[in-house]
Amino acid sequence: MLDWDDTPATPTAPRAQPATPTAAAHKVPVMAAAPDVAGATGLEDVQMGARRIQVDDKKIINCRADLNQLVPFKYKWAWDKYLSACNNHWMPQEVNMSADIALWQDPNGLTDDERMIIKRSLGFFSTADSLVANNLVLAVYRHLTNPECRQYLLRQAFEEAIHTHAYQYCIESLGLDEAEVFNMYREVPSIHDKAAWSLPYTQSLADQTFHTGTPENDQRLLRDLIAFYVVFEGIFFYVGFVQLLSFGRRNKMVGTSEQIQYIMRDESMHMNFGIDVINQIKVENPHLWTPEFQKEIAGMIREATELEIKYAHDTMPRGVLGLNASMFNEYMKFIANRRCAQIGIAALYPAAENPFPWMSEVMDLKKEKNFFETRVTEYQTGGALSWD
Ligand SMILES: [Fe+2]
Ligand SMILES: [Fe+2]
Repeated sequence: MLDWDDTPATPTAPRAQPATPTAAAHKVPVMAAAPDVAGATGLEDVQMGARRIQVDDKKIINCRADLNQLVPFKYKWAWDKYLSACNNHWMPQEVNMSADIALWQDPNGLTDDERMIIKRSLGFFSTADSLVANNLVLAVYRHLTNPECRQYLLRQAFEEAIHTHAYQYCIESLGLDEAEVFNMYREVPSIHDKAAWSLPYTQSLADQTFHTGTPENDQRLLRDLIAFYVVFEGIFFYVGFVQLLSFGRRNKMVGTSEQIQYIMRDESMHMNFGIDVINQIKVENPHLWTPEFQKEIAGMIREATELEIKYAHDTMPRGVLGLNASMFNEYMKFIANRRCAQIGIAALYPAAENPFPWMSEVMDLKKEKNFFETRVTEYQTGGALSWD
């Protein structure tokens, strides 16, 4: 923990002693005491003459090796995801919103139910992506002790900023009441409940006195990773994704749908990165994955599935766009089973089927032309550079 306060430490706020006389003389910030088993942060003093990093020195949590040296790679999957994410770079202003603006301003363009779905989705997502970003930066980053994973986290944090930007851009383009939309998680119960469900998991880690290194604390980290990567990005986003993409499938709100298509591509990679991290922590720390812990995780996923189904009913009291809320009962159970399988938990709803098979086609964008035929989605900004 860094402390930039110049006031002397009081007996009630003990701090570690400065590591060197030089540090003390210049009053540079000092590291707070951490258990010996906790991981490095990357801000330790540089040890002159220390031996070079070996790949076997690296661990995903509680690693004591220097975190400022990216190579040699141990977790190639993390570096590969960082490269893919950079290749998928996009910006919200590149999407043409003029058809959406015309449709939204046309009094007969959309029904009241359709307008409510758009507003509630923007209301949920606009604060949700900030929560995810804050969790990454203020809670998770410090405790993942691997440079290639941190490289991906830095990219992910920027993508979350782009997503929040995209929602702001849609809200501004449509001329919606910004205060109403951004404040929905404090006004609409089904939106509030999803944010409220997730916050204790990140608050637990953001505590500056928290350190990994004991089985109990390592499970706290694992719980947060599952809450945000598997539940928040892997379950809580999915009713909104289906609803907004359904507009595009019917040639309505095509700009907003296209933004969501880019966002969903990013989110699917975030979730897969998180699942790889979770499974790697399990491999390196099998003692954490106890039957009791697995039961607790299954309970978290069940609670979250029920909240997301409630959200579907709340945003869609009547059938619209060929969708109805009861289809989401089935869909969210199907998604929950998939998330359970991805982290090695038995299916919670064994008979659930996917009522929206087209969603997997949207996910699998690879070489396809854009779903809404507005542009090729697999453009790569890096490929546009020319040094001739
Ligand atoms: Fe996001
Ligand atoms: Fe994300």
